[in-house]
Amino acid sequence: MSLKGKKIVLGVTGSIAAYKTPQLVRLLIKAGAEVRVVITDAAALFVSPLSLATVSKYPALSSVSDGSTWNNHVELGLWADGMLIAPCSANTLGKLANGLCDNLLNAVYLSSRCPVFIAPAMDEDMWLHPSVQSNVSRLKGFGNHLIPVGHGELASGLTGDGRMAEPEDILHYLENFWEGKYRPLAGIKALVTAGPTYEPIDPVRFIGNFSSGKMGIAVAEALADKGAQVTLVLGPSNERTTHSMVKTISVVTALEMYDACMAEFNQCQIAILAAAVADYRPLVKASEKIKKNETEFNLILTKNNDILASLGKIKEPWQTLVGFALETNNELEHASGKLEAKNADMIVLNSLKDEGAGFGHDTNKITLLIKGKDNLDLPLQSKKSAAGAIVDNLIKLRYDQETV
Ligand code: CTP
Repeated sequence: MSLKGKKIVLGVTGSIAAYKTPQLVRLLIKAGAEVRVVITDAAALFVSPLSLATVSKYPALSSVSDGSTWNNHVELGLWADGMLIAPCSANTLGKLANGLCDNLLNAVYLSSRCPVFIAPAMDEDMWLHPSVQSNVSRLKGFGNHLIPVGHGELASGLTGDGRMAEPEDILHYLENFWEGKYRPLAGIKALVTAGPTYEPIDPVRFIGNFSSGKMGIAVAEALADKGAQVTLVLGPSNERTTHSMVKTISVVTALEMYDACMAEFNQCQIAILAAAVADYRPLVKASEKIKKNETEFNLILTKNNDILASLGKIKEPWQTLVGFALETNNELEHASGKLEAKNADMIVLNSLKDEGAGFGHDTNKITLLIKGKDNLDLPLQSKKSAAGAIVDNLIKLRYDQETV
């Protein structure tokens, strides 16, 4: 009973593969799910609503109102733990990608807050058409899960890609998702920096900052939860991670952090630099403790290497680079300047003006600036869930760039 207690809305659209949906409903129910079917008029030409009602034990709904009763799409959308659209025709893909709402199925999709799984089905030329592929990319970009199409004999008589995944494969996809086996970053190596750096003045003093390392560690764990093998380069911090997929390299200074990153980066597909690296270090570290003999004390500082900018210079197309920006004024302008200047794919902007955001807190309020996309303002949330949002958006970005 791998789907025990899961409430699934199955949306069926007009494709010959719709004839397989009573079997799909049977499999979902056998796996423990409760299923409600929503069917389009075109789908009813390929499969009988009565068959679907019989196997699911609920009426197969097709319109927002059935004469005197209103089928509450919002209620259905909120009821569901998951919405599965199988088969999903080219027409419905286009509507979902563009927010159209001309039938009950689209209305439920727009009202749902749960994960949505889409199993497309169409002829190969339709499937490969740039307009359909662009709709698929858009839908992935919204966070929908696209179940890969199958290869084989098509209704047109041609052979190729575009068949709906078999009901058993769709079931496995959902089982993997809910059993936490959904690991889109499996096999991917990631580099994360976190914490402050300390720049020694003499054997007992340093220049540092208030970074706790919590945000970077949360990012490392969020990547690892999605299957990535993570190297965490951690400045002096009291925080630790025990995640089995995260290897920690402890460093103290910006120079050490730079060296560790340069050594790791060429094996990593992803780098997220969350560390608050000191921009300057004392030009000389005094070998003995400095005495307070003088009334004034001048310290000459020299610039540290910018790790993010250095990685941006050597980044290959298969690598995705994310930086952070902590700003106190003209936040968006400064952050988008960093996106450009450091050749990053994403900048996570923290504003110190936001209550509960920034150093030391367990919460954070961030804005994501993503290359070629609109900015994404996220609400105040725990650093753990902010890290999850960063990683989810990074996965979407890599899908769009076809690097996952
Ligand atoms: N960063 C880095 N190496 C540095 C300085 C910063 O890798 N020597 C990275 C940080 O980890 C962060 C991003 O660059 O991902 C932005 O850092 P920030 O200090 O906010 O910006 P700076 O580029 O240093 O610019 P400024 O201090 O002028 O705002």
